[in-house]
Amino acid sequence: MKVSRRSLLKALAAAPFAGACAGRSAQPAQVTLVARVAKQRLVPAAYPETEVWGYEGIVPGPLLRLRQGENLRVVLENHLPSATTVHWHGLRVPNAMDGVPHVTQPPVAPGGRFVYEFPLRDAGTYWYHPHEQSQEQVARGLYGVLIVEEREPPRVDREVTWVLSDWRLAPDASHREDFDSLFDLTHAGRIGNTVTINGRFTAKDGVLNVRSGERIRLRLVNTAVARIFRLHFERHAPRVIALDGQAVPPHAAEKGVVLGPGMRADLVLDFPHAPGTRAEVTDDFYPRMAGRLMEIVYANGPPLRERLLDAPVALSANALADPDVARAERHEILFQGGAMGSVRDALFQGERVTLARLAREHHLAWVVNGAAVKGHAHAPLLSLKRGGHYVLDLINETAWHHPIHLHGHVFRIIARDGAPTPLREWADTVLMAPRERVEIAFVADNPGHWMLHCHVLAHQAGGMSAVLRVA
Ligand code: C2O
Ligand code: CU
Repeated sequence: MKVSRRSLLKALAAAPFAGACAGRSAQPAQVTLVARVAKQRLVPAAYPETEVWGYEGIVPGPLLRLRQGENLRVVLENHLPSATTVHWHGLRVPNAMDGVPHVTQPPVAPGGRFVYEFPLRDAGTYWYHPHEQSQEQVARGLYGVLIVEEREPPRVDREVTWVLSDWRLAPDASHREDFDSLFDLTHAGRIGNTVTINGRFTAKDGVLNVRSGERIRLRLVNTAVARIFRLHFERHAPRVIALDGQAVPPHAAEKGVVLGPGMRADLVLDFPHAPGTRAEVTDDFYPRMAGRLMEIVYANGPPLRERLLDAPVALSANALADPDVARAERHEILFQGGAMGSVRDALFQGERVTLARLAREHHLAWVVNGAAVKGHAHAPLLSLKRGGHYVLDLINETAWHHPIHLHGHVFRIIARDGAPTPLREWADTVLMAPRERVEIAFVADNPGHWMLHCHVLAHQAGGMSAVLRVA
């Protein structure tokens, strides 16, 4: 199938998918996702199309939009040449629906299918992607956004979703096939050379058309396998209303909106300038790759309204169990390894093995609490009591950034380098800077075996991964 830009935009439009399928009935909203190989134009017409792997053959995959409290039923059909699964990133699903191969389900073989079904407990911006060979499968384009609407969403004129990603393309726009590069594994991961928004290269001609006086809710999702973004909105003052799908007190993003892989932010953007105004959205997380992502272009016609809306924008919070930090049990989780790391060896399958040998023979480069692990299924790093309150002290003893993601739960980020965080924000993925120490707190209220891993997917494959058992 050829995917035109129009059909892609249509797939991304805020179509009331759930309304059409399920309304408010108890019937689950059902959708089929065929994971398959397809061609898509990522870069300007001077280049060929790229062979991608996409849900329904498009990148990003279909935007699933439902209401809080509904049930979602997804039939995954695997038409890929490899086994796959779907993980529902950020959603508190029953363990059997979590999409982790060999831990919560067998991988879905080529030609196979698997049915996911779960209630949507929390409103917010989430996403879905494979958990099998994800450093390759996500890089090839397997990801999509899942929006769960609040029962009472804030008043905006329009919603826009930007799926931020990148690709490592050869001059003929095909993938560079070095998905398992040892360099990426031991350094910052597979950072691409072509950034896309909603599956299209936008740096040169991407435009967000707006009207003077308009208010937009912009949902940002970083689906890149390694790239971190820091967005700036020239002469505009976005307010952050949610992080990782969870409400935060609306606040300005003074130093830009930082999104590590896997992370999301919901912004409210007002457009106060005169018709005809132009402004840039830029990314400067890596100074040497800084540049424009999008241009905001105000229509020339009359303003939508003379005075900006002043309706409240705060979201109501999801019903998350609040951890009691004073009585929480504390555990340290020490991350080591990678290039320029300080450890020399690690425990691997009961044996002390040097990191050099681990990299050469097992493609592992990262160490969690002294051990290196391969694949998903291994003995739990921690066994947590169901209903127990926990603080995890995540210690990054490496020279690299790591977005650490916990499955099945949402946690509060309570401290960084010993200093309490001002917002104590909820998150499912927390970005740790090199040598940083971050404390997170949560109630272990979802039974099962849950992954805790770095969302730089080459790091995850390289051993930056653990299982937490809740029982
Ligand atoms: Cu978004 Cu374990 O992953
Ligand atoms: Cu990492």
